[in-house]
Amino acid sequence: MSPIVPIKSESQIATADFRDAMRHLVGGVSVITVGRGRDISGMTVTSVSSLSVDPPSVVVSVNRSSSSWPLLTRYGFFGANLLSAEQLEIAERFSGKNGLKGADRFAGAAWNTGISGVPLLVGALAAADCEVEDIVERHSHGIVIGRVRDLIVSPCAAALAYWQGQYVAVDRDEDVARLAEVGVPRGTGQAGSEGRPPRIPSLATIRPTGTIS
Ligand SMILES: Cc1cc2nc3c(=O)[nH]c(=O)nc-3n(C[C@H](O)[C@H](O)[C@H](O)COP(=O)(O)O)c2cc1C
Repeated sequence: MSPIVPIKSESQIATADFRDAMRHLVGGVSVITVGRGRDISGMTVTSVSSLSVDPPSVVVSVNRSSSSWPLLTRYGFFGANLLSAEQLEIAERFSGKNGLKGADRFAGAAWNTGISGVPLLVGALAAADCEVEDIVERHSHGIVIGRVRDLIVSPCAAALAYWQGQYVAVDRDEDVARLAEVGVPRGTGQAGSEGRPPRIPSLATIRPTGTIS
């Protein structure tokens, strides 16, 4: 049995310990887009998640010191663009890593203008045009609730996630392709014709997709 690490009381929790704990959390990578016209910016986030289906709404946690924050609060809309594994470069641009700001972050990718005026990424797994419904300011961040006003959904493709400090691709087709190679019918986990041991297909394969410097 693996050793159990005791939970410390809040006063003892060091920032580094908390960061280490959160590295275990797999986060789907999205780009939040804000503003309109040339007055636009955006940021890479892992905090987008679905809040409710009826009404369709999402929640995202945004640092109030980010350059996107004033545009988010001024215009009251944001785009939630769920990235595919092919869009790693876009994630890097919008994390501010290369020093690009504002409209310059959007270069090199195709964007549509959503009904609210926010940019929506062409080829994102899903792109939602959201109206800010509520903001709860807490600590360094604002918890933003967005009502989905419009939605574009792409066919299923490998998703971009962030886990253990690196970008990873979550790819269902990769496993299916491997199963085809060894002759195991999809979803059965039965032995191939040469009597290979049964292999239970996992739902998805996670593979490193890029490095962070
Ligand atoms: C994988 C990843 C996930 C991130 N998730 C969030 C998040 O959920 N909320 C947030 O406020 N910042 C998040 N950040 C940090 C922002 O992307 C970064 O601070 C922001 O782009 C800096 O923007 P600025 O230069 O416009 O201020 C994340 C960064 C990375 C690389």
